[in-house]
Amino acid sequence: MNSPSFHHLFIFTVVFFLRCLNLTTAATCHPNDESGLLAFKSVITEDPSGILNTWKKGTDCCSWDGVSCSNGNRVVVLTIRIEPHDADIFLSGTISPSLAKLQHLEGVVFINLKNITGPFPSFLFRLPHLKYVYLENSRLSGPLPANIGALNRLDTLTVKGNRFSGSIPSSISNLTRLNYLNLGGNLLSGTIPLGITNLKLLSNLNLDDNRLSGTIPDIFKSMTKLRILTLSHNGFSGKLPPSIASLAPALAFLELSQNNLSGSIPSYLSRFTSLDTLDLSKNHFSGTVPKSLAKLTKIANINLSHNLLTDPFPVLNVKNYILSLDLSYNNFHMEKIPEWVTSASLLSSLKLAKCGIKMSLDEWKTRQTDLYDSIDLSDNEISGSPVRFLKEEVQLREFQMSGNKLRFDLRKLSFSKTLETLDLSTNLVFGKVSASVAGLKTLNLSQNHLCGKLPATKFPESVFAGNDCLCGSPLSHCKG
Ligand SMILES: *[C@@H]1O[C@H](CO)[C@@H](O)[C@H](O)[C@H]1NC(C)=O
Ligand SMILES: *[C@@H]1O[C@H](CO)[C@@H](O)[C@H](O)[C@H]1NC(C)=O
Ligand SMILES: *[C@@H]1O[C@H](CO)[C@@H](O)[C@H](O)[C@H]1NC(C)=O
Ligand SMILES: *[C@@H]1O[C@H](CO)[C@@H](O)[C@H](O)[C@H]1NC(C)=O
Ligand SMILES: *[C@@H]1O[C@H](CO)[C@@H](O)[C@H](O)[C@H]1NC(C)=O
Repeated sequence: MNSPSFHHLFIFTVVFFLRCLNLTTAATCHPNDESGLLAFKSVITEDPSGILNTWKKGTDCCSWDGVSCSNGNRVVVLTIRIEPHDADIFLSGTISPSLAKLQHLEGVVFINLKNITGPFPSFLFRLPHLKYVYLENSRLSGPLPANIGALNRLDTLTVKGNRFSGSIPSSISNLTRLNYLNLGGNLLSGTIPLGITNLKLLSNLNLDDNRLSGTIPDIFKSMTKLRILTLSHNGFSGKLPPSIASLAPALAFLELSQNNLSGSIPSYLSRFTSLDTLDLSKNHFSGTVPKSLAKLTKIANINLSHNLLTDPFPVLNVKNYILSLDLSYNNFHMEKIPEWVTSASLLSSLKLAKCGIKMSLDEWKTRQTDLYDSIDLSDNEISGSPVRFLKEEVQLREFQMSGNKLRFDLRKLSFSKTLETLDLSTNLVFGKVSASVAGLKTLNLSQNHLCGKLPATKFPESVFAGNDCLCGSPLSHCKG
Protein backbone atom coordinates (compact mmCIF):
# COMPACT_ATOMS: atom_id res chain seq x y z
CA MET A 1 0.00 0.00 0.00
CA ASN A 2 1.46 3.35 -0.97
CA SER A 3 0.98 6.02 1.58
CA PRO A 4 -0.08 9.38 0.20
CA SER A 5 2.70 11.89 0.36
CA PHE A 6 1.56 15.37 1.03
CA HIS A 7 5.25 16.25 1.22
CA HIS A 8 5.59 15.88 -2.51
CA LEU A 9 2.73 18.21 -3.12
CA PHE A 10 4.35 20.64 -0.73
CA ILE A 11 7.60 20.59 -2.68
CA PHE A 12 5.99 21.19 -6.01
CA THR A 13 4.06 24.09 -4.63
CA VAL A 14 7.29 25.58 -3.31
CA VAL A 15 9.13 24.95 -6.56
CA PHE A 16 6.36 26.47 -8.59
CA PHE A 17 6.20 29.47 -6.32
CA LEU A 18 9.95 29.99 -6.55
CA ARG A 19 9.89 29.67 -10.31
CA CYS A 20 7.34 32.45 -10.49
CA LEU A 21 9.50 34.67 -8.32
CA ASN A 22 12.39 33.92 -10.57
CA LEU A 23 10.60 35.12 -13.69
CA THR A 24 10.35 38.60 -12.22
CA THR A 25 14.06 38.89 -11.39
CA ALA A 26 16.56 39.26 -14.15
CA ALA A 27 19.71 38.39 -12.18
CA THR A 28 21.84 35.43 -13.18
CA CYS A 29 22.86 32.75 -10.76
CA HIS A 30 25.75 32.93 -8.35
CA PRO A 31 29.07 31.62 -9.83
CA ASN A 32 29.52 29.14 -6.95
CA ASP A 33 26.12 27.65 -7.65
CA GLU A 34 26.82 27.43 -11.38
CA SER A 35 30.14 25.68 -10.88
CA GLY A 36 28.68 23.32 -8.25
CA LEU A 37 25.90 22.28 -10.64
CA LEU A 38 28.25 21.87 -13.60
CA ALA A 39 30.51 19.67 -11.45
CA PHE A 40 27.43 17.59 -10.58
CA LYS A 41 26.65 17.22 -14.29
CA SER A 42 30.26 16.33 -15.12
CA VAL A 43 30.17 13.07 -13.12
CA ILE A 44 26.85 11.98 -14.58
CA THR A 45 28.00 9.34 -17.05
CA GLU A 46 24.66 8.60 -18.73
CA ASP A 47 21.63 10.82 -19.27
CA PRO A 48 19.90 9.12 -22.21
CA SER A 49 16.80 11.32 -22.19
CA GLY A 50 18.68 14.60 -21.80
CA ILE A 51 17.39 15.61 -18.38
CA LEU A 52 20.38 17.91 -17.88
CA ASN A 53 20.44 19.31 -21.44
CA THR A 54 19.54 22.80 -20.29
CA TRP A 55 22.49 22.89 -17.88
CA LYS A 56 24.96 24.90 -20.01
CA LYS A 57 27.87 26.99 -18.80
CA GLY A 58 27.32 30.71 -19.27
CA THR A 59 23.51 30.53 -19.18
CA ASP A 60 21.60 31.52 -16.07
CA CYS A 61 21.61 28.38 -13.88
CA CYS A 62 18.40 29.58 -12.20
CA SER A 63 16.66 28.82 -15.52
CA TRP A 64 18.00 25.26 -15.79
CA ASP A 65 15.53 22.39 -15.48
CA GLY A 66 15.17 21.31 -11.87
CA VAL A 67 16.92 24.36 -10.44
CA SER A 68 15.02 26.90 -8.33
CA CYS A 69 16.48 30.12 -6.99
CA SER A 70 15.42 32.77 -4.56
CA ASN A 71 16.94 36.07 -3.43
CA GLY A 72 17.61 36.67 -7.08
CA ASN A 73 20.52 34.40 -7.68
CA ARG A 74 20.99 31.63 -5.09
CA VAL A 75 19.86 28.07 -5.74
CA VAL A 76 17.53 26.94 -2.96
CA VAL A 77 15.97 23.77 -4.35
CA LEU A 78 17.36 21.14 -6.70
CA THR A 79 14.69 18.80 -8.01
CA ILE A 80 15.35 15.94 -10.40
CA ARG A 81 12.36 13.66 -10.50
CA ILE A 82 11.92 10.90 -13.05
CA GLU A 83 8.86 8.77 -13.75
CA PRO A 84 9.34 5.44 -11.98
CA HIS A 85 8.11 3.20 -14.78
CA ASP A 86 9.95 4.59 -17.76
CA ALA A 87 13.04 2.38 -17.95
CA ASP A 88 14.64 4.56 -20.64
CA ILE A 89 14.82 7.63 -18.41
CA PHE A 90 17.51 7.52 -15.72
CA LEU A 91 20.83 9.01 -14.68
CA SER A 92 24.03 7.00 -14.18
CA GLY A 93 27.06 8.14 -12.23
CA THR A 94 27.67 9.48 -8.74
CA ILE A 95 26.62 12.56 -6.78
CA SER A 96 29.42 15.13 -6.91
CA PRO A 97 30.49 16.55 -3.52
CA SER A 98 30.74 19.91 -5.32
CA LEU A 99 27.04 20.39 -4.64
CA ALA A 100 28.30 21.69 -1.27
CA LYS A 101 29.00 24.92 -3.15
CA LEU A 102 25.27 25.55 -3.28
CA GLN A 103 25.38 27.07 0.20
CA HIS A 104 21.79 28.32 0.15
CA LEU A 105 20.29 24.93 -0.70
CA GLU A 106 17.24 24.10 1.39
CA GLY A 107 15.98 21.09 -0.51
CA VAL A 108 17.58 18.27 -2.46
CA VAL A 109 15.06 16.15 -4.34
CA PHE A 110 16.47 13.24 -6.38
CA ILE A 111 13.62 10.83 -7.08
CA ASN A 112 13.83 7.71 -9.28
CA LEU A 113 17.21 8.58 -10.80
CA LYS A 114 17.57 4.77 -10.70
CA ASN A 115 21.26 4.33 -11.49
CA ILE A 116 23.18 6.72 -9.25
CA THR A 117 25.73 4.84 -7.15
CA GLY A 118 28.01 5.72 -4.25
CA PRO A 119 27.66 6.25 -0.51
CA PHE A 120 25.31 8.53 1.42
CA PRO A 121 26.31 11.95 0.01
CA SER A 122 28.47 13.80 2.54
CA PHE A 123 27.98 17.21 0.92
CA LEU A 124 24.63 17.33 2.73
CA PHE A 125 26.49 17.91 6.02
CA ARG A 126 28.02 21.11 4.65
CA LEU A 127 24.74 22.85 3.82
CA PRO A 128 23.66 25.12 6.68
CA HIS A 129 20.10 25.76 5.43
CA LEU A 130 19.10 22.23 4.44
CA LYS A 131 15.51 21.35 5.37
CA TYR A 132 14.52 18.43 3.18
CA VAL A 133 16.31 15.56 1.49
CA TYR A 134 14.69 13.12 -0.93
CA LEU A 135 17.13 10.51 -2.27
CA GLU A 136 14.62 7.93 -3.46
CA ASN A 137 14.96 4.90 -5.71
CA SER A 138 18.52 4.78 -6.90
CA ARG A 139 21.52 2.59 -6.14
CA LEU A 140 23.16 4.39 -3.22
CA SER A 141 24.79 1.96 -0.82
CA GLY A 142 26.96 1.51 2.26
CA PRO A 143 26.02 2.48 5.79
CA LEU A 144 23.96 5.48 6.83
CA PRO A 145 26.56 7.82 8.39
CA ALA A 146 26.96 7.49 12.17
CA ASN A 147 26.70 11.28 12.50
CA ILE A 148 23.45 11.53 10.52
CA GLY A 149 22.03 13.28 13.60
CA ALA A 150 24.08 16.32 12.64
CA LEU A 151 21.49 17.05 9.91
CA ASN A 152 19.35 18.31 12.76
CA ARG A 153 17.48 21.01 10.87
CA LEU A 154 15.86 18.47 8.56
CA ASP A 155 12.11 18.35 8.31
CA THR A 156 12.11 15.50 5.78
CA LEU A 157 14.60 12.69 5.23
CA THR A 158 13.79 9.94 2.77
CA VAL A 159 16.29 7.53 1.30
CA LYS A 160 13.78 4.84 0.35
CA GLY A 161 14.57 2.35 -2.40
CA ASN A 162 18.37 2.29 -2.26
CA ARG A 163 20.85 -0.28 -0.96
CA PHE A 164 21.84 1.22 2.36
CA SER A 165 22.94 -1.44 4.82
CA GLY A 166 24.05 -1.76 8.43
CA SER A 167 22.07 -0.51 11.37
CA ILE A 168 20.07 2.67 11.85
CA PRO A 169 22.55 5.08 13.54
CA SER A 170 21.59 5.96 17.09
CA SER A 171 22.31 9.63 16.38
CA ILE A 172 19.06 9.67 14.43
CA SER A 173 17.60 10.63 17.81
CA ASN A 174 18.99 14.12 17.20
CA LEU A 175 16.82 14.74 14.12
CA THR A 176 14.19 16.22 16.39
CA ARG A 177 12.60 18.44 13.75
CA LEU A 178 11.77 15.54 11.44
CA ASN A 179 8.25 15.34 10.20
CA TYR A 180 8.80 12.59 7.67
CA LEU A 181 11.37 9.79 7.93
CA ASN A 182 11.46 7.09 5.27
CA LEU A 183 14.26 4.50 5.24
CA GLY A 184 12.11 1.89 3.45
CA GLY A 185 13.29 -0.49 0.74
CA ASN A 186 16.92 -0.79 1.83
CA LEU A 187 19.03 -3.51 3.44
CA LEU A 188 19.07 -2.09 6.96
CA SER A 189 19.44 -4.57 9.81
CA GLY A 190 19.49 -4.58 13.60
CA THR A 191 16.85 -3.11 15.85
CA ILE A 192 15.04 0.23 15.88
CA PRO A 193 17.12 2.61 18.05
CA LEU A 194 15.22 3.64 21.16
CA GLY A 195 16.22 7.26 20.59
CA ILE A 196 13.65 7.47 17.76
CA THR A 197 11.27 8.26 20.59
CA ASN A 198 12.75 11.79 20.57
CA LEU A 199 11.30 12.47 17.12
CA LYS A 200 8.15 13.94 18.58
CA LEU A 201 7.11 15.82 15.44
CA LEU A 202 7.06 12.77 13.17
CA SER A 203 3.89 12.43 11.17
CA ASN A 204 5.15 9.68 8.87
CA LEU A 205 7.58 6.92 9.91
CA ASN A 206 8.36 4.36 7.24
CA LEU A 207 10.95 1.61 7.76
CA ASP A 208 9.30 -1.04 5.58
CA ASP A 209 11.05 -3.62 3.44
CA ASN A 210 14.37 -3.87 5.30
CA ARG A 211 15.95 -6.57 7.45
CA LEU A 212 15.16 -5.02 10.81
CA SER A 213 14.48 -7.38 13.69
CA GLY A 214 13.82 -7.62 17.39
CA THR A 215 10.66 -6.39 19.04
CA ILE A 216 9.07 -3.11 18.03
CA PRO A 217 10.32 -0.90 20.88
CA ASP A 218 7.89 0.94 23.11
CA ILE A 219 8.71 4.33 21.64
CA PHE A 220 5.41 5.83 20.56
CA LYS A 221 4.18 7.58 23.68
CA SER A 222 5.57 10.96 22.62
CA MET A 223 4.72 10.68 18.91
CA THR A 224 1.32 12.26 19.12
CA LYS A 225 1.42 13.57 15.56
CA LEU A 226 2.10 10.25 13.87
CA ARG A 227 -0.36 9.56 11.03
CA ILE A 228 1.50 6.91 9.08
CA LEU A 229 3.43 4.03 10.67
CA THR A 230 4.82 1.50 8.20
CA LEU A 231 7.08 -1.28 9.45
CA SER A 232 5.98 -3.99 7.00
CA HIS A 233 8.27 -6.59 5.48
CA ASN A 234 10.95 -6.88 8.15
CA GLY A 235 11.73 -9.51 10.79
CA PHE A 236 10.04 -7.88 13.79
CA SER A 237 8.77 -10.33 16.38
CA GLY A 238 6.93 -10.28 19.70
CA LYS A 239 3.80 -8.40 20.65
CA LEU A 240 2.76 -4.89 19.69
CA PRO A 241 4.25 -2.44 22.21
CA PRO A 242 1.64 -0.87 24.52
CA SER A 243 2.53 2.69 23.55
CA ILE A 244 0.99 2.16 20.09
CA ALA A 245 -2.24 2.87 21.98
CA SER A 246 -1.16 6.49 22.41
CA LEU A 247 -1.21 6.99 18.64
CA ALA A 248 -5.01 7.25 18.87
CA PRO A 249 -6.84 9.06 17.50
CA ALA A 250 -4.41 10.55 14.93
CA LEU A 251 -2.99 7.43 13.30
CA ALA A 252 -4.42 6.82 9.82
CA PHE A 253 -2.16 4.07 8.43
CA LEU A 254 -0.93 1.14 10.52
CA GLU A 255 1.03 -1.19 8.27
CA LEU A 256 2.89 -4.04 9.96
CA SER A 257 2.46 -6.84 7.42
CA GLN A 258 5.02 -9.55 6.71
CA ASN A 259 6.78 -9.70 10.04
CA ASN A 260 6.78 -12.27 12.80
CA LEU A 261 4.48 -10.42 15.19
CA SER A 262 2.30 -12.37 17.58
CA GLY A 263 -0.22 -11.95 20.38
CA SER A 264 -3.78 -10.77 19.98
CA ILE A 265 -5.13 -7.80 18.09
CA PRO A 266 -5.47 -5.16 20.81
CA SER A 267 -8.92 -3.78 21.57
CA TYR A 268 -7.52 -0.25 21.88
CA LEU A 269 -7.48 -0.16 18.06
CA SER A 270 -11.14 0.81 18.39
CA ARG A 271 -9.94 4.24 19.55
CA PHE A 272 -8.11 4.82 16.26
CA THR A 273 -11.03 6.70 14.82
CA SER A 274 -8.98 8.18 11.96
CA LEU A 275 -7.75 4.79 10.81
CA ASP A 276 -7.86 4.42 7.02
CA THR A 277 -5.66 1.35 6.56
CA LEU A 278 -4.97 -1.55 8.90
CA ASP A 279 -2.56 -4.10 7.45
CA LEU A 280 -1.41 -6.80 9.86
CA SER A 281 -1.20 -9.52 7.18
CA LYS A 282 1.38 -12.33 7.23
CA ASN A 283 2.19 -12.40 10.93
CA HIS A 284 1.27 -14.76 13.77
CA PHE A 285 -1.55 -12.78 15.36
CA SER A 286 -3.97 -15.08 17.15
CA GLY A 287 -7.21 -15.05 19.12
CA THR A 288 -10.42 -13.30 18.15
CA VAL A 289 -10.67 -9.91 16.51
CA PRO A 290 -12.11 -7.45 19.09
CA LYS A 291 -15.80 -6.66 18.64
CA SER A 292 -15.03 -3.04 19.39
CA LEU A 293 -13.51 -2.63 15.93
CA ALA A 294 -17.09 -1.92 14.92
CA LYS A 295 -16.32 1.62 16.12
CA LEU A 296 -13.90 2.16 13.23
CA THR A 297 -16.53 3.39 10.87
CA LYS A 298 -14.24 5.12 8.37
CA ILE A 299 -11.70 2.43 7.68
CA ALA A 300 -11.07 1.85 3.97
CA ASN A 301 -8.56 -1.01 3.85
CA ILE A 302 -8.35 -4.00 6.17
CA ASN A 303 -5.84 -6.78 5.61
CA LEU A 304 -5.60 -9.43 8.32
CA SER A 305 -4.75 -12.29 5.95
CA HIS A 306 -2.26 -15.05 6.80
CA ASN A 307 -2.53 -14.98 10.60
CA LEU A 308 -3.96 -17.40 13.17
CA LEU A 309 -7.16 -15.49 13.98
CA THR A 310 -10.26 -17.37 15.12
CA ASP A 311 -14.08 -17.04 15.05
CA PRO A 312 -16.20 -15.09 15.37
CA PHE A 313 -15.23 -12.18 13.15
CA PRO A 314 -17.13 -9.06 14.35
CA VAL A 315 -19.79 -7.29 12.35
CA LEU A 316 -18.12 -4.11 11.13
CA ASN A 317 -19.76 -0.80 10.50
CA VAL A 318 -18.03 0.30 7.35
CA LYS A 319 -20.76 0.17 4.72
CA ASN A 320 -19.92 3.32 2.82
CA TYR A 321 -16.17 3.43 3.38
CA ILE A 322 -14.50 0.10 2.95
CA LEU A 323 -12.66 -0.41 -0.35
CA SER A 324 -10.64 -3.55 0.29
CA LEU A 325 -10.99 -6.42 2.73
CA ASP A 326 -8.68 -9.42 3.06
CA LEU A 327 -9.28 -11.98 5.83
CA SER A 328 -7.83 -14.95 3.92
CA TYR A 329 -5.92 -17.84 5.47
CA ASN A 330 -6.83 -17.59 9.16
CA ASN A 331 -8.89 -20.05 11.19
CA PHE A 332 -12.28 -18.58 10.34
CA HIS A 333 -15.42 -20.65 9.63
CA MET A 334 -17.74 -18.03 8.21
CA GLU A 335 -20.27 -20.31 6.45
CA LYS A 336 -21.44 -17.33 4.34
CA ILE A 337 -19.98 -14.08 3.14
CA PRO A 338 -21.25 -11.77 5.90
CA GLU A 339 -24.07 -9.38 5.04
CA TRP A 340 -22.00 -6.33 6.12
CA VAL A 341 -19.53 -7.39 3.43
CA THR A 342 -21.91 -8.11 0.55
CA SER A 343 -23.75 -4.84 1.19
CA ALA A 344 -20.66 -2.62 1.48
CA SER A 345 -21.32 -0.26 -1.36
CA LEU A 346 -17.75 0.69 -2.37
CA LEU A 347 -15.94 -2.58 -1.69
CA SER A 348 -13.86 -3.33 -4.76
CA SER A 349 -11.31 -5.89 -3.58
CA LEU A 350 -12.65 -8.81 -1.56
CA LYS A 351 -10.42 -11.68 -0.47
CA LEU A 352 -11.86 -14.35 1.79
CA ALA A 353 -9.77 -17.38 0.79
CA LYS A 354 -10.00 -20.33 3.18
CA CYS A 355 -12.55 -18.66 5.41
CA GLY A 356 -14.80 -21.72 5.74
CA ILE A 357 -17.46 -20.34 3.38
CA LYS A 358 -20.01 -22.96 2.30
CA MET A 359 -22.65 -21.00 0.40
CA SER A 360 -23.73 -21.33 -3.22
CA LEU A 361 -22.55 -18.55 -5.50
CA ASP A 362 -26.14 -18.25 -6.77
CA GLU A 363 -27.15 -16.88 -3.33
CA TRP A 364 -24.80 -13.92 -3.67
CA LYS A 365 -26.80 -10.85 -4.62
CA THR A 366 -24.54 -8.45 -6.48
CA ARG A 367 -24.84 -4.78 -5.67
CA GLN A 368 -26.45 -2.16 -7.83
CA THR A 369 -23.80 0.35 -6.74
CA ASP A 370 -20.11 -0.11 -7.43
CA LEU A 371 -18.50 -3.06 -9.11
CA TYR A 372 -15.76 -5.38 -7.94
CA ASP A 373 -12.20 -5.21 -9.19
CA SER A 374 -10.86 -8.39 -7.61
CA ILE A 375 -12.39 -11.36 -5.84
CA ASP A 376 -10.51 -14.21 -4.17
CA LEU A 377 -12.65 -16.90 -2.57
CA SER A 378 -10.21 -19.76 -3.11
CA ASP A 379 -10.14 -22.80 -0.83
CA ASN A 380 -13.69 -22.61 0.48
CA GLU A 381 -16.64 -24.93 -0.15
CA ILE A 382 -18.53 -22.66 -2.49
CA SER A 383 -20.95 -24.40 -4.85
CA GLY A 384 -23.18 -23.27 -7.70
CA SER A 385 -22.23 -21.30 -10.78
CA PRO A 386 -20.36 -18.00 -11.33
CA VAL A 387 -22.08 -17.40 -14.69
CA ARG A 388 -24.48 -14.70 -13.50
CA PHE A 389 -21.85 -13.06 -11.26
CA LEU A 390 -19.29 -12.71 -14.04
CA LYS A 391 -21.90 -11.38 -16.45
CA GLU A 392 -22.89 -8.60 -14.05
CA GLU A 393 -19.43 -7.63 -12.76
CA VAL A 394 -18.17 -5.88 -15.87
CA GLN A 395 -15.16 -4.25 -14.21
CA LEU A 396 -13.68 -7.39 -12.70
CA ARG A 397 -9.93 -7.87 -13.24
CA GLU A 398 -9.29 -10.88 -11.05
CA PHE A 399 -11.51 -13.85 -10.15
CA GLN A 400 -9.88 -16.53 -7.99
CA MET A 401 -12.07 -19.50 -7.14
CA SER A 402 -9.60 -22.35 -6.94
CA GLY A 403 -10.41 -25.24 -4.58
CA ASN A 404 -14.20 -24.95 -4.34
CA LYS A 405 -17.20 -26.97 -5.50
CA LEU A 406 -18.35 -24.88 -8.45
CA ARG A 407 -20.34 -27.03 -10.87
CA PHE A 408 -21.36 -25.45 -14.17
CA ASP A 409 -20.96 -25.70 -17.94
CA LEU A 410 -17.92 -23.63 -18.94
CA ARG A 411 -19.50 -22.96 -22.37
CA LYS A 412 -22.07 -20.72 -20.63
CA LEU A 413 -19.41 -18.50 -19.05
CA SER A 414 -18.89 -15.04 -20.52
CA PHE A 415 -16.83 -12.30 -18.93
CA SER A 416 -15.86 -8.71 -19.60
CA LYS A 417 -12.74 -7.59 -21.46
CA THR A 418 -11.35 -6.19 -18.18
CA LEU A 419 -10.78 -9.69 -16.79
CA GLU A 420 -7.08 -10.60 -16.58
CA THR A 421 -6.97 -13.49 -14.11
CA LEU A 422 -9.37 -16.43 -14.00
CA ASP A 423 -8.61 -19.32 -11.66
CA LEU A 424 -11.25 -22.05 -11.55
CA SER A 425 -8.81 -24.88 -10.79
CA THR A 426 -9.87 -27.79 -8.56
CA ASN A 427 -13.64 -27.46 -8.94
CA LEU A 428 -16.32 -29.52 -10.69
CA VAL A 429 -16.51 -27.50 -13.91
CA PHE A 430 -17.61 -29.41 -17.03
CA GLY A 431 -18.12 -28.66 -20.74
CA LYS A 432 -15.61 -27.31 -23.25
CA VAL A 433 -13.02 -24.54 -23.16
CA SER A 434 -13.97 -21.68 -25.49
CA ALA A 435 -11.61 -19.40 -27.41
CA SER A 436 -12.58 -16.44 -25.18
CA VAL A 437 -9.99 -17.49 -22.56
CA ALA A 438 -7.13 -16.81 -24.99
CA GLY A 439 -7.03 -13.09 -24.15
CA LEU A 440 -6.56 -13.58 -20.38
CA LYS A 441 -3.18 -12.91 -18.75
CA THR A 442 -3.51 -15.73 -16.22
CA LEU A 443 -5.71 -18.80 -16.43
CA ASN A 444 -6.03 -22.00 -14.44
CA LEU A 445 -8.61 -24.65 -15.34
CA SER A 446 -6.72 -27.66 -14.00
CA GLN A 447 -8.41 -30.38 -11.90
CA ASN A 448 -11.96 -30.13 -13.28
CA HIS A 449 -14.17 -32.27 -15.55
CA LEU A 450 -13.59 -30.45 -18.82
CA CYS A 451 -13.56 -32.25 -22.15
CA GLY A 452 -13.02 -31.63 -25.87
CA LYS A 453 -10.51 -29.87 -28.11
CA LEU A 454 -8.66 -26.86 -26.67
CA PRO A 455 -8.67 -23.52 -28.52
CA ALA A 456 -5.29 -22.00 -29.46
CA THR A 457 -3.85 -20.17 -26.41
CA LYS A 458 -0.45 -19.20 -25.03
CA PHE A 459 -1.01 -21.15 -21.79
CA PRO A 460 1.16 -24.09 -20.67
CA GLU A 461 -0.06 -27.64 -20.23
CA SER A 462 -0.30 -27.32 -16.42
CA VAL A 463 -3.30 -24.98 -16.52
CA PHE A 464 -5.39 -27.64 -18.32
CA ALA A 465 -4.00 -30.71 -16.49
CA GLY A 466 -6.16 -33.15 -14.55
CA ASN A 467 -9.38 -32.87 -16.57
CA ASP A 468 -11.54 -35.67 -17.93
CA CYS A 469 -10.86 -35.58 -21.64
CA LEU A 470 -9.30 -32.33 -22.86
CA CYS A 471 -7.10 -32.66 -25.93
CA GLY A 472 -5.13 -30.64 -28.48
CA SER A 473 -2.08 -28.40 -27.99
CA PRO A 474 -0.53 -28.03 -25.38
CA LEU A 475 -2.05 -31.40 -24.34
CA SER A 476 -1.86 -34.46 -26.55
CA HIS A 477 -3.52 -34.66 -30.00
CA CYS A 478 -7.23 -35.28 -30.18
CA LYS A 479 -7.98 -38.80 -31.37
CA GLY A 480 -9.95 -39.42 -34.54
C1 LIG B 1 24.22 1.97 -14.51
O1 LIG B 1 25.50 2.55 -14.31
C2 LIG B 1 26.59 1.69 -14.53
C3 LIG B 1 27.85 2.45 -14.20
O2 LIG B 1 27.72 3.03 -12.93
C4 LIG B 1 26.60 1.23 -15.97
O3 LIG B 1 27.65 0.30 -16.17
C5 LIG B 1 25.28 0.57 -16.30
O4 LIG B 1 25.20 0.30 -17.67
C6 LIG B 1 24.11 1.50 -15.94
N1 LIG B 1 22.85 0.77 -16.06
C7 LIG B 1 21.94 1.11 -16.94
C8 LIG B 1 20.67 0.34 -16.91
O5 LIG B 1 22.11 2.01 -17.71
C1 LIG C 1 23.14 14.70 19.64
O1 LIG C 1 23.68 15.99 19.55
C2 LIG C 1 24.37 16.41 20.71
C3 LIG C 1 24.74 17.86 20.54
O2 LIG C 1 25.25 18.10 19.27
C4 LIG C 1 25.57 15.52 20.92
O3 LIG C 1 26.27 15.89 22.08
C5 LIG C 1 25.10 14.08 21.08
O4 LIG C 1 26.20 13.21 21.18
C6 LIG C 1 24.22 13.68 19.89
N1 LIG C 1 23.60 12.39 20.17
C7 LIG C 1 23.87 11.29 19.49
C8 LIG C 1 23.17 10.04 19.91
O5 LIG C 1 24.65 11.30 18.55
C1 LIG D 1 9.39 -16.27 13.47
O1 LIG D 1 9.17 -16.76 14.77
C2 LIG D 1 9.30 -18.14 14.92
C3 LIG D 1 8.98 -18.51 16.34
O2 LIG D 1 7.79 -17.87 16.74
C4 LIG D 1 10.73 -18.55 14.54
O3 LIG D 1 10.84 -19.93 14.58
C5 LIG D 1 11.05 -18.05 13.12
O4 LIG D 1 12.40 -18.30 12.82
C6 LIG D 1 10.80 -16.57 13.01
N1 LIG D 1 10.96 -16.16 11.63
C7 LIG D 1 11.60 -15.05 11.27
C8 LIG D 1 11.65 -14.76 9.82
O5 LIG D 1 12.10 -14.30 12.09
C1 LIG E 1 -3.06 -8.55 1.94
O1 LIG E 1 -1.72 -8.83 2.27
C2 LIG E 1 -1.17 -9.92 1.56
C3 LIG E 1 0.22 -10.22 2.10
O2 LIG E 1 0.81 -9.19 2.77
C4 LIG E 1 -1.13 -9.54 0.08
O3 LIG E 1 -0.59 -10.60 -0.67
C5 LIG E 1 -2.56 -9.27 -0.38
O4 LIG E 1 -2.58 -8.86 -1.72
C6 LIG E 1 -3.19 -8.18 0.47
N1 LIG E 1 -4.61 -8.06 0.14
C7 LIG E 1 -5.13 -6.97 -0.42
C8 LIG E 1 -6.60 -6.99 -0.68
O5 LIG E 1 -4.47 -6.00 -0.72
C1 LIG F 1 -3.24 -24.38 -11.19
O1 LIG F 1 -4.00 -24.93 -10.15
C2 LIG F 1 -3.45 -26.11 -9.57
C3 LIG F 1 -4.50 -26.67 -8.60
O2 LIG F 1 -5.06 -25.65 -7.83
C4 LIG F 1 -2.14 -25.75 -8.91
O3 LIG F 1 -1.56 -26.91 -8.32
C5 LIG F 1 -1.20 -25.20 -9.97
O4 LIG F 1 0.01 -24.77 -9.36
C6 LIG F 1 -1.84 -24.04 -10.70
N1 LIG F 1 -1.01 -23.70 -11.84
C7 LIG F 1 -0.72 -22.44 -12.17
C8 LIG F 1 0.13 -22.24 -13.38
O5 LIG F 1 -1.13 -21.48 -11.52
